[in-house]
Amino acid sequence: MLAGLGLDWGCGTGCLGLTAVQIPTVSHIIGLDIDPANIAAAQHNAVVNGVADRLTFLLADSYTPFAAADQAALSAYAGRIDFILANPPTSEGDDGFGFRRLVLEGARPFLKPGGVLFLSVSYQYGRIRIHRLTQEVTGFTYGGLLASTDWVPFDMQRPDLYHCAELYAAEEQAGGPLHEFRHLAAADQILNAQSALAHFQRTGQSPLSQWQTHLFRYEPVTDQGWQMLMETMETYQMDTGISNLADQYIHNQ
Ligand SMILES: C[S@@+](CC[C@H](N)C(=O)[O-])C[C@H]1O[C@@H](n2cnc3c(N)ncnc32)[C@H](O)[C@@H]1O
Repeated sequence: MLAGLGLDWGCGTGCLGLTAVQIPTVSHIIGLDIDPANIAAAQHNAVVNGVADRLTFLLADSYTPFAAADQAALSAYAGRIDFILANPPTSEGDDGFGFRRLVLEGARPFLKPGGVLFLSVSYQYGRIRIHRLTQEVTGFTYGGLLASTDWVPFDMQRPDLYHCAELYAAEEQAGGPLHEFRHLAAADQILNAQSALAHFQRTGQSPLSQWQTHLFRYEPVTDQGWQMLMETMETYQMDTGISNLADQYIHNQ
């Protein structure tokens, strides 16, 4: 799946793009990041690793470069991108998926039909949130787990991760889906964010999680596809007497 032209959303110091571009089937990668220091570091790392000719780094807010020339350069890739790599940050005050929705939504004009998006979503967010992404952002199918670390501590001594756990617990208390950590002493024991936080406050022990990457495939429905879908639905409705199916389908899209 890593072949052709790629985008590295939120490239940071370039680690994902720099690694991917070493794969012989990958021709070129464009890295995007909002932080000028990251773009400078990524450019430096590309030179040091001898791959600067196969990587371009653009200062951008999401998929919108700040400089007009960079906007023009990026727009030339519309509809031509084979894969997108994204390890987005967690946004404050939402369910942790604000940037992930943004990455998927903004990917649509760039990806070829059948193009793939490798999205980092760690284990503790749970499957419900990941599956919900394809309902919230249409045009993608979920392709499953691509890669995972082993169980590793979600180090709550780190203020940023402790703060994340507090946000997760608050979301659970407000009725959101439960998060899923594992117990440090028994990896088969599931802890939600509230119990993981309480356990840490009592014992100083962090729970376990896994850093993971999931696959999303861009499969927009073509005009011809819509036509076929509608005809199939009409036939189904006539055969079964079940009406309103097409309306419901369109509504859900
Ligand atoms: C979790 S880091 C990932 C860095 C690197 N790709 C990695 O996997 O180590 C998220 C990156 O997204 C960048 N970022 C945050 N908001 C952004 C935005 N609106 N547009 C582009 N990049 C953004 C940050 O500067 C940061 O480099």
